[in-house]
Amino acid sequence: MAVALLVAAGRGERLGAGGPKALVMLAGRPMLEWSLDALRAVEAIRCIVVALPDGVVAPAGTIGVAGGEERSHSVRAALAAAGDGPDDEPILVHDAARPLLTPELVRRSLDALAQTGADAVVAAAPVVDTIKRVRTDAPGLHVEATLQRHALWAAQTPQVFRRAALSRALAQPDDVLAAATDDAGIVEQTGGRVHLVESPRENLKVTTPLDLRLAALLLEERC
Ligand code: C5P
Repeated sequence: MAVALLVAAGRGERLGAGGPKALVMLAGRPMLEWSLDALRAVEAIRCIVVALPDGVVAPAGTIGVAGGEERSHSVRAALAAAGDGPDDEPILVHDAARPLLTPELVRRSLDALAQTGADAVVAAAPVVDTIKRVRTDAPGLHVEATLQRHALWAAQTPQVFRRAALSRALAQPDDVLAAATDDAGIVEQTGGRVHLVESPRENLKVTTPLDLRLAALLLEERC
């Protein structure tokens, strides 16, 4: 059996909706409900913990916990609220900001963790744009390098971890956690082996008003 941690405590400032992003209405429901539907449909998930903005009540059938200052702090709080379990228990982390999650992707990610023996498995899509790296030590957008696109993948969630690997990663100092943009990156830094599972670009992250419009269209198409 597995535990799912849904992080939904972000302020959503880039979306500019005037409230927490996970609670913004999307195709008729608060955004986090779409991810919850997908997680609830997977038999292998024994418990769902949701990291929420202060004062928000936990959705039905979930354990609610107050989120932290940065995303990784919310993941740490959610893992603590899940209680103890075996070291190799799969812990799935998902961003409520990715409402197009499907039960099929959840199952495939859990299966990949079991089959590869990796410490973590990350849903990811091949990069379609050519990526330029610019200098960050000088003003102006000076290109330093053009990266080899065939080797580049855009990391998404779900990300599934062996409990011991995620706990080790989240025990890093607060500043390491604050600098991390995903949990699998911290697992890599702490010597863990991370694999990818291919995921559709449709599993997009809602960051801007444009993403919200796209997500609404895609979800309405599914209904
Ligand atoms: O801000 P961003 O879109 O990168 O956040 C990704 C996910 O992490 C969102 O689902 C957001 O609600 C969650 N988050 C959180 N606690 C924070 C910051 C973000 O749960 N402090």
